[in-house]
Amino acid sequence: MTIPASDAVKRIAGTQRTHQATPATALREMGIVPLASGDPNFATPAYICEAAASALREGYTHYASSQGDPELRAALAEQLNEEHGQNYTADDVLISNGSSGAIYAAVAGSLNPGDQALLFDPCFSLYEDVLKLVGAEPVRVPYRRDNFHLDPEALERAVTPRTKMLILNTPCNPTAVMLSRSELEAIEEVVLRHELLLLSDEIYDHVVFDGRPFVSALDLPELAERTLLVNGFSKTYAMTGWRLGYLAGKNGLTEPAAAVQRTMIHSISAFSQRAGLAALGGLGGAWEREMLEIYDRRRRLGHELLAAVPRFRCALPEAAFYFWVKVESSLSSAEMCSFFRENGVAVRSGSEFGPGGEGYIRLTFAASDEEIAEGIERLARAAEKLPP
Ligand SMILES: Cc1ncc(COP(=O)(O)O)c(C=O)c1O
Repeated sequence: MTIPASDAVKRIAGTQRTHQATPATALREMGIVPLASGDPNFATPAYICEAAASALREGYTHYASSQGDPELRAALAEQLNEEHGQNYTADDVLISNGSSGAIYAAVAGSLNPGDQALLFDPCFSLYEDVLKLVGAEPVRVPYRRDNFHLDPEALERAVTPRTKMLILNTPCNPTAVMLSRSELEAIEEVVLRHELLLLSDEIYDHVVFDGRPFVSALDLPELAERTLLVNGFSKTYAMTGWRLGYLAGKNGLTEPAAAVQRTMIHSISAFSQRAGLAALGGLGGAWEREMLEIYDRRRRLGHELLAAVPRFRCALPEAAFYFWVKVESSLSSAEMCSFFRENGVAVRSGSEFGPGGEGYIRLTFAASDEEIAEGIERLARAAEKLPP
């Protein structure tokens, strides 16, 4: 007997997201260099693991509060206030199952079927799937083709009377571009004029290079009033497996998302949240500095190697840990990915992130120096055999 899937599941059945992700260890066993995933190859720092072990011994083995550990929420509110001159309280923060959980809860809590949400093209593939799952309509806003920065006119053109939400991700996965203050101001102008809700995913806010200042939606006071901030522990602290993220918003903005979360999962792992609290205490410390130095070295190494490949074009990443590479070939991005995989390297198809990613591939540099060098060498050799 087969039981048909719901219409909601059918709406996401064809996405590349559903079919991706062979784990890095399995790829290595198959002799393939894994440069596809956004999972840092660092182990979670020892002081965080120790805090989790202590929490287990102290009895953090029960259901947690559905909104999240009160001390963790208070610490996150304090961090947001320090970093962005805000006045959040613990009540404005919802701890979620990774930032993925925050994105789902925020979308399902705020949008009705038929509502439109704007998302940039290209962008992290989860947004479109979540919108489709809840029956909302994703509307793509192309970035500028020359540098993947904001095109304010394209944004304005995409707004209709049905638009309720704008989803932003800066620094951006997959393009590694970080928006400037003036770009955020242009977004603010549109959000305020059309009374939209901004879902601002800032998960790479601490993986930024060359001392450039990161500008958050929360740095613009009027925009902050209409912002649901998404962030998490996966990237800054190499904690992808702990499934810890959060949503922050003023004026009761997180309450609908909290209702979704209560209904789906009740609460987040209690000891993971205690580990998260310890993690915050180490922010800005030796571990973070070392991680950034290593990422920076890998960024320069990989960029130099990619720049030497005649059919590749890639800007130096401004933030996050991805190379966004234009490949000169008549093959589609998905075909290129299969071709590169047959030649021993796993990368992501640019089209997974939206039609604007066609012609591109995404490689991670959250991998070892050796794997980056070997992977790019294999790509370069394979590129010579690509159809023109
Ligand atoms: C832009 C962006 N947002 C959210 C996530 C999800 O992170 P997590 O659910 O591990 O917190 C990712 C993961 O790659 C991402 O790139």
